[in-house]
Amino acid sequence: MIKVLFVCLGNICRSPMAEFVFKQMVTERGMSAKFEIASAATEGYNEMCHAGIHHGTREMLHAMHVPYEEHYSRRIRPEDYAYYDYILAMDDSNIEEIQSITGPDTEGKVRRLLDFTAHPRNIKDPWYTGNFDETYWDIVEGCDAFLKFLE
Ligand code: 4NP
Repeated sequence: MIKVLFVCLGNICRSPMAEFVFKQMVTERGMSAKFEIASAATEGYNEMCHAGIHHGTREMLHAMHVPYEEHYSRRIRPEDYAYYDYILAMDDSNIEEIQSITGPDTEGKVRRLLDFTAHPRNIKDPWYTGNFDETYWDIVEGCDAFLKFLE
């Protein structure tokens, strides 16, 4: 079992999108039983207000025929570090925030999703850019590259 936790700032835009895109990819390859896939935030405010998936992410998943379930933001917890095999962040600031919660990344589990691609970079936050289309294609590129890395 490979356990993967996608992490972003709020866990309502990018990381739930990555969770459901990656779940679809492994399901289509008949590999879903080999994975446990979830997502989390580095900030706690969306968990406190029980926030669901942002409508921009919902619309993008719907448009691209990516199945998704109801999901509510939750903040990453210190014990997630031992539990998950890969903690995949969307940007540099997530990497810092994750380690401020879990402690230093002594086992090399914390990576940016797009670091698995030929063009390592941050995934911009659509909460600020409003561009969920760009987020989707970055996430597809990253998930695809991560799966190839695992294979
Ligand atoms: P995400 O985007 O990190 O991709 O989920 C954000 C969602 C919410 C907020 C910021 C970023 N916020 O400030 O509530």
